[in-house]
Amino acid sequence: MFDVVVLAAGKGSRMKSRLPKVMHPLAGKPMVQWAVDAATQSGANQVHLVVGFGREFIEGAVSAPNVQFALQEAQLGTGHAVAQALPAVKDSDVIVVTYGDVPLLKADTIAQLAAVAESGHLALLTEVVDDPSGYGRIIRDETSGAVISIVEHKDASDAQRAVREINTGVMAAPAAQLREWLPQLSVNNAQGEYYLTDIVALAVAAGVPVYALHPAEGLETTGVNSRQQLAALERAVQRRQVDALMAAGVGFADPSRVDIRGELVAEGDVFIDVNCVFEGRVTVQAGAVIGPHCVVRDSVIGCDCRVESHSVLEGSRLGEGVVAGPFARLRPGTALGARAKVGNFVEVKKSQVGEGSKINHLSYVGDADIGSGVNVGAGVITCNYDGANKHLTSIADGAFIGSNCSLVAPVDIGANVTVGAGSVLTQSVPDEHLAVARGRQRNISGWRRPVKGDA
Ligand code: UD1
Ligand code: CA
Repeated sequence: MFDVVVLAAGKGSRMKSRLPKVMHPLAGKPMVQWAVDAATQSGANQVHLVVGFGREFIEGAVSAPNVQFALQEAQLGTGHAVAQALPAVKDSDVIVVTYGDVPLLKADTIAQLAAVAESGHLALLTEVVDDPSGYGRIIRDETSGAVISIVEHKDASDAQRAVREINTGVMAAPAAQLREWLPQLSVNNAQGEYYLTDIVALAVAAGVPVYALHPAEGLETTGVNSRQQLAALERAVQRRQVDALMAAGVGFADPSRVDIRGELVAEGDVFIDVNCVFEGRVTVQAGAVIGPHCVVRDSVIGCDCRVESHSVLEGSRLGEGVVAGPFARLRPGTALGARAKVGNFVEVKKSQVGEGSKINHLSYVGDADIGSGVNVGAGVITCNYDGANKHLTSIADGAFIGSNCSLVAPVDIGANVTVGAGSVLTQSVPDEHLAVARGRQRNISGWRRPVKGDA
């Protein structure tokens, strides 16, 4: 059994933000949530989140069933931070230490480190880099090559600074050992902090073997200290997501001009044009085409749909072969049946639209149940709100609603009804009828327009 301690108490001053650094989103999810998710997926029993600066933001936002918070009031160093979580960990368990600002560490890597510590060893995640400056250096015995200590950059001699193997900060140890070692740390160093890294020398002194593992890929251990670094990591994550989708048969007009902030599940022969943003959980089925500049959130887009440019979809389900947009706005609770069409400047909310029905221009459809084969003319409005309550409109199969009608809900329009253009309907219409509700036209002969100077 192992627990993960995620350090997230720092402010992240270089972000120049009122939010703690770890709350800044990467691909739509706070960095610290990435860290918590990886810990959860690694099979950790408990995740201990060490918080301090801006803890109210973190405690309110991070969700996972197995997260426990530990408070570090003052940031006295990484060793002190881990010590704050220790009281909540059983002696028989192992602790893996990770960081809220290192979002891409993999669950597998956490599990591997835990496994090493479960056999009673100290496990470090280290890396050999071209530019080690700023990092703690891994000091090894010259003859045996065994790790003997970590020396922080600021405390290191020139010879030690030449070492290119660095401490990523991620490590694992038996909780019982940490309970012995952490109280022995001192602030007798260049930064006056309790360094977690000093436990390495303590382990060596106690005869506990120290193992160094390397991450599977570089991004795993990339930490974020500035907005520039966050933006660079964002691009890298986006590229990784798009590459995986392309490998699965999804086409992109430009892999560098798309943003997936959540989970996009897309099937073969889906094509996504430039500058689309996907948020939450979006599914796009085979052959669907998403035009440029669309925003799609928590929606399902059926096979062979065409979502034309500048459309905004949220909480919507589109059946097979639907055409939406350009400039369609589909709000939560919209369900469009197969081959339905929703055209430009049409807003649909909490409504079903049956197979093959069309709402092609400039309409608002809210709280409506529309059958199949219905034609809703330009500028039709469902007046669903009386100032206090929402009411339903239903339109049965085959109805034809002329342009510029107001359907004052609650109102039921029967099958194959025709509604004359410009009608304001306040009453239901039986099947097969024509409804006209507008002023009658009068043509007046001999009428003269007023001219300037008329009394
Ligand atoms: C630490 C390591 C260093 C390693 C580097 C990798 C130590 C002493 N040094 O250095 O060997 O190469 O990470 O990036 O561990 N934190 C707290 N509470 C604290 C102090 C830190 O929660 O009291 C959190 C910070 O928010 C931050 C992380 O721990 O996310 C790392 O702390 P930081 O002080 O930045 O350590 P480094 O100097 O980078
Ligand atoms: Ca750091």
